[in-house]
This record gives sequence, C-alpha cells and structure tokens, in this order.
Amino acid sequence: MRWYENDGLWSGFAETMFPPRRAQEAADLVATSPLLRFQPGAQVLDLCCGPGLWLAPLARRGYQVTGVDLSPVMLAEAKAACPDAELICEDMLEFSRPGQFDVALNVFTSFGYLAEAEDNLQVLRNAYTSLKPGGQLIVDVMGKEVLAGWIGRPQAVDVDGGCVVMRDTILDDWTRLRTDWTLVRGDTARHAVIECFVYSAAELKDLFRQAGFQDVECFGDFDASSYDNHSKRLIVRGYRRD
Ligand SMILES: C[S@@+](CC[C@H](N)C(=O)[O-])C[C@H]1O[C@@H](n2cnc3c(N)ncnc32)[C@H](O)[C@@H]1O
Repeated sequence: MRWYENDGLWSGFAETMFPPRRAQEAADLVATSPLLRFQPGAQVLDLCCGPGLWLAPLARRGYQVTGVDLSPVMLAEAKAACPDAELICEDMLEFSRPGQFDVALNVFTSFGYLAEAEDNLQVLRNAYTSLKPGGQLIVDVMGKEVLAGWIGRPQAVDVDGGCVVMRDTILDDWTRLRTDWTLVRGDTARHAVIECFVYSAAELKDLFRQAGFQDVECFGDFDASSYDNHSKRLIVRGYRRD
C-alpha cells in the first residue's frame, strides 16, 4: 500500500490535520480571499477534498462543488459537511472530466504525493483537461523556501488526552520530504509516515507551464500577497487559455 492510501493516516491524525479551527479558517478565506472569488454559480473542483472543509463554504457561496478524494472515510465526512457536493472516490492520478470545471483547487499541501515526478505532473495535466477554456487551477502547498525556514525543529501539538509529534527529514537533495507523525495517548502510540515531493516557487510554476497552463503566478497567502520571505505558504495559480 502507498502511504497516502492508508485511511488510518488521514482518520487517525484528523484531530491535528482537520481541527474545527481549520474549518473556520477555510470559511473565513472563502468569504474574504480575492483568489477565491469566482463567477456566480461557477463549477468548482476540490481535488483531494479531505473531510470537505472547503466544500461547505464554497457551496454556501453558491458555487457548484465537486470533491475528489481517494479515502472513503474522508469522503463520508465530506458528505456530512456538505450534503450538496458531488463526491467522487478516485485517485488524482486518474481523475479527469474534460472541460467541466471553471476552477480546480488543490489545497493544504495535497500535491506531490505520487512516488514518480512524472505522475505529479500528470495530476496537473488532468486538472488542465478538466477545466473549461478560461478556467483556473490553484495549488496551495508548503513551498520549499518556506520549509527551509523551520525545517529540523520537531513540532508537537496537544490533542485530547495526548500529543502529536511531527518530525521532518529532507530526502534526495531537497527533492522530497518525509514527515514522521507520532500520536501518543495514554499508553498507546500510533505512527505514520508522509513522503512527498517539495517544490520551490520556480519549480512549481515550471510544472504548471509544462502541463499547459498560462499566466502562471505565485502568491504567499490567500490575501494575494506576494510570495516572499514572510510567506507561510506557496500558492500557484494558472489558467487554461485555449
Ligand atoms: C492533507 S489532506 C488535505 C485535505 C483538504 N484539501 C483540506 O484542505 O483539508 C490530503 C487529502 O488528500 C487525499 N489523497 C491522498 N492521496 C490522494 C490521491 N492519490 N488521490 C486523491 N486523493 C488523495 C487524502 O485522502 C486526504 O484527504
């Protein structure tokens, strides 16, 4: 089994990855972000939608939302969070609906998971195919430059009755990142590993262009600020023009 096919990872660490605070943050960003303001009634794809933190506020703004995720557990939560969403259980490597969407989103570092570099490019190609001409793709990840600012410091987060410790290791000359997650609660411990590609702004922009996107831009946050030494995330947006 590939690491990202392990439902125990997404559901077992859900308290840390998908706390109520993040649902509120997503709702606030959908309400205020200039990057998340689309034409009325736009068809929006959330690729790797997880438990639907973004689907629900997007649907409340009147967009027609589709969530794609590989995890049946995550999709069941997305259904509860957003009953109006169309939900599809499929691998992002395979998912493509030619010309259907005005917007495709891939947020909270849900890109770069596939073991082969070419497969991650294929995910962008699929998104390109799935957009209408004039449509846009927005990818939000932890950029390599951001990561370089705090890598090496183990992080610990308190959860109900326990603690989650995350430890990062850079692999293959800054090509990929391994994060070891350990949840200790009482006398039990749960461990999982995430291993994904990490991209600099220039690398991710180049991948967008290879996939066919035009007018590719970077931002440092959903307020559309520039990607610089103050940024905490890397957001790349590109358009399908043909
Ligand atoms: C870090 S979570 C982010 C979820 C959501 N975007 C959010 O902001 O909360 C990554 C999600 O990607 C899904 N996923 C992982 N690999 C996938 C794949 N190959 N195809 C589709 N979904 C995948 C996981 O099941 C998980 O729900």
